[in-house]
Amino acid sequence: MNSLNIYSDKGVVNKYHLSRNIPYKILANYASQIVTNTSPRSLCDVGFGKGSTLIPFARHKETRVYGIDSSEEMVSFVRNELSKRNLFAKVIDADAKFIEPFIGELDLVHMKAVTHIPKDPYKFLMDVTRAVRLGEHFVIGKENSQPEDNMENIGKYGLSHQEDFVLKNFYEEYFKIRTNDGKPFRKPKMPAGDYDEAVRFLTERDFVFEKEITTPAWTKNITLSELVEAISEGTFTVFRKGCSQLDRKDYAKKMEAYCHAYGYSLDVKRPYRAQLKAVILRKEAK
Ligand SMILES: C[S@@+](CC[C@H](N)C(=O)[O-])C[C@H]1O[C@@H](n2cnc3c(N)ncnc32)[C@H](O)[C@@H]1O
Repeated sequence: MNSLNIYSDKGVVNKYHLSRNIPYKILANYASQIVTNTSPRSLCDVGFGKGSTLIPFARHKETRVYGIDSSEEMVSFVRNELSKRNLFAKVIDADAKFIEPFIGELDLVHMKAVTHIPKDPYKFLMDVTRAVRLGEHFVIGKENSQPEDNMENIGKYGLSHQEDFVLKNFYEEYFKIRTNDGKPFRKPKMPAGDYDEAVRFLTERDFVFEKEITTPAWTKNITLSELVEAISEGTFTVFRKGCSQLDRKDYAKKMEAYCHAYGYSLDVKRPYRAQLKAVILRKEAK
């Protein structure tokens, strides 16, 4: 099991849904915009997780669709989901750094919410983008959807979205607890909820910026109880990296106590304005 990839853990995969659901019509819109703008004959979704983008990509029958993910659990989950829907995609259980030797060149490689996982995201990006055929596309997505991921960017955005102030207080308290415990959260070089660094890195090399696409926004309703459970189970890298299982249980208890102390109901649905975006890059010889 790859210790950096928390999604190799069956417990995490079973609780993956906590605070992560995205309406299918948003995902379908996202996949369609990418396909319409690039017309790929072949595409690969790297680190497809539970298939949130791989499944809508697979509905584009004119494109040969591949997926590569290094979690055996995710791979078997998605194979099953595809077959339930009578869809086909060639799904490969492997580290995406081997995408090019395994699949060869592709017209489009897509990735969302993966770059925060590898130890060296720069090398990972180089390995993954090697599979993009010259003149064709690498697409990197992000979610203004998971406040957990946006918290990785707290220094950058200061949570300036239109989230409920209780959510903001909740996350600030969580990070304070970790800092006070001597296990501060360290922002990844390429956070899950942000692609700017990846785009900068690639456009200084073999890629040119072509377009940014944006889905319609939707309101995500989040309860503090699901966040406390996600902290306890460590179902997001942000909640797991740098802390032990015992720490996680302790932080979850402290967060629950914090909510009680401030009269924040654990079960009230709190609105969060969510949206998906992606940057389309084209590979060029420089
Ligand atoms: C946070 S999930 C994101 C899933 C999906 N892309 C999404 O946006 O919903 C990250 C996924 O990347 C996979 N992953 C992490 N490192 C990987 C690697 N080196 N090669 C292939 N997959 C990887 C994990 O197994 C997990 O399924």
